[in-house]
Formats: sequence, C-alpha cells, structure tokens
Amino acid sequence: MDLSSRYMGLDLAHPLMASASPLSMTLDGIRALEDAGVSGLVLFSLFEEQLQAEQDFDDLLQLYGDDSFAESLSFLPRHGHYSEAAEHYLELIRKAKDATNIPIIGSINGVTSDGWIQYAKQMEQAGADGLELHLYYHPPSLDISGREVEAHYIETARRVKQSVNIPVALKLDPYFSAFGNMAKQLDQTGVDALVMFNRLLMQDFRIDSLQIKSAPPYSHPGDIALPLHWIAVLYGKLKTSLAATTGVYCADDAIKYLLAGADSVMLASCLIKHGPEHVQTILSGIKQWMEVQGMQSIDEMRGIMSESAVPNPEAFERLSYLSTIAAGKRA
Ligand SMILES: Cc1cc2nc3c(=O)[nH]c(=O)nc-3n(C[C@H](O)[C@H](O)[C@H](O)COP(=O)(O)O)c2cc1C
Repeated sequence: MDLSSRYMGLDLAHPLMASASPLSMTLDGIRALEDAGVSGLVLFSLFEEQLQAEQDFDDLLQLYGDDSFAESLSFLPRHGHYSEAAEHYLELIRKAKDATNIPIIGSINGVTSDGWIQYAKQMEQAGADGLELHLYYHPPSLDISGREVEAHYIETARRVKQSVNIPVALKLDPYFSAFGNMAKQLDQTGVDALVMFNRLLMQDFRIDSLQIKSAPPYSHPGDIALPLHWIAVLYGKLKTSLAATTGVYCADDAIKYLLAGADSVMLASCLIKHGPEHVQTILSGIKQWMEVQGMQSIDEMRGIMSESAVPNPEAFERLSYLSTIAAGKRA
C-alpha cells in the first residue's frame, strides 16, 4: 500500500502533517511530533507584530482591548522582545532541521507584507523546507471594498513568492465573496499551496461584566464541512497543492478530505487534545479503509469525490442544496 503524498513540491511519507500549534514551539515538541509519526510539520507562527520593532504592541492591545480580535491575538505570545522572538524562531528552524528527517515549514502570521519579507528570506536561509503565510486581513472599515481586500492578498502572496526560492503556502479563511475566483487568482501568483481553512474565531461578550471574551481556538469534530466543500470544488482546477486544515479528529475526517482532493491533511486540535500519537490512530484507520475499499495508494483515492467528476457543477451545487433542505423537512 502506497501512502505517500506530494505537497507543495515536498515528498511526504503519508498525508498527515501537524499544522501550526503550540506543539511545535520547542525542539522537544517537534521531536515528539516526528516520533509520533507526522509526515511533516508547520511550526507555530511568528507574528508580524513580533517583527515590527517600531510597533508598540502593548499600545495596540490597549487600543483594541486585551481580548478583542481573538483570531489574531489568541495565538500571540503576550510577552518577550520582538527581535528575540525572531532570532529564537530562526534558531528553532536550524535545530529542527538538524534533529529531524521530516519537512519543516516556517509560518508567518500577518496582515501586510511590509517588514517581514526579510524574515521569510531568513527562514529560508535557516533551512526551512517551505513557508506558510497565514494572512489575516479583515478591515473593520466600511470604506474598503472586497476588490481592495482581494488585491491586498494577491499582492502579498506575489511579493513573498518572489522573495524566496522555497515553496510558499497560503493559509486562508473562506470569507471572500467568490472564493473560487480568489483561489484562481492566488494560484496565478505561483504560490505552491492553499491551506483551507483558517477558522475565524469570533468574539463573544460577557453580559455580566460587559467585556469581550475570546473563544478557545480549538476546532470541534464536524467542523470539516466548509474546507471539504471547497477542496472538492477546487481539486483538479489549479496548479497549486491543496491542504486541508480544520476538524480532523478521526480517520473518517481525513479520508473525506483525501477523497475531496487534499494533498495534505493537517492536524492541530486533535493532537493537542489526544497527544501527538493520535496521528497513528488516524493513519491506521486510513489504511483499514483502503484495504476494505481495495485502494492501493493515496493517489488512487485522491479527488474521487471532487466536483471534477461532475459534468455540471452549478446544477450539482443547487441540487445538493435542495436535497439537504428536503432531508431536513423529512427528519
Ligand atoms: C492552540 C492553537 C494554536 C494555534 N496556533 C496557530 C499558529 O500559531 N499559526 C497558525 O497559522 N495557526 C495556528 N493554529 C491553527 C491550527 O494550525 C489549525 O489550522 C486550526 O486549529 C484548525 O485545525 P484543527 O481543527 O486540527 O485544530 C492554532 C490552533 C490552536 C488550537
């Protein structure tokens, strides 16, 4: 049985990678992930705010409130010196490359490309096998149009892609009015992978103290629906690799993502909750399913449930929608 997969030009022993999370914040953590059997990993993110020495992050927190902008800030280490954070990160890449035999992907989380393209280059020099950009740009302004937001993503992707020679992945959220066209435009920048999807961690309110409260950043089983849909739509239509992130807790989730067309299936919450060795439970489940189905390789199963097999995708989408509504009425 051939479990190998190719993701953004990197050869993986199987498709299950660790996505960015605190599990990769130390060399011991990285070794534990490799020992547990992930085929590659994305390091926790270096945040743009950590790289902008001139920006007073404490002022930013005061301005917006400590717990607001949950998605951006909940992952962000609250203390430490910016330059130290960057140097520590580069050192971790060097050590991880020395200590492991799996692809190590550096991650930058930001809004603009200014000020940190140089760090992308430094991550490449430190030995990273690839770079994942987690772009997060949702301006609260009512005067910025969707077209401007899209142009910002495309320009940032283009600039970073042009600045390094290692493969570049973009981790996105789905909140564009025409995600398919957005994916096509990003593909045309030459980026090597789209990682779908980053979850928008919405804010909640405390009604007793009238404060904003952050939601915990963990996904839940069953959260795969949106990335699954878009991977199934995009498969076979773009040059770029497709990675699935969000909601994988068991083998069935990973199998569905592969059937939709994912080149890599990324895990975070389930590894944090059940330990890195949970990757083996998921991998065994995939192997068992392949045996039962008579599948010889991951390549053989990839994309067979994608929309590429559907002659009229628009009609198919509408029909799926109507059948779901009808099923709800029958229940
Ligand atoms: C505690 C925690 C920390 C995370 N830190 C990062 C991060 O630093 N950078 C990033 O791009 N994503 C980060 N993520 C998002 C994950 O990489 C992943 O995309 C997301 O949680 C969905 O996958 P999951 O359902 O397997 O958790 C984090 C997630 C969790 C739960």
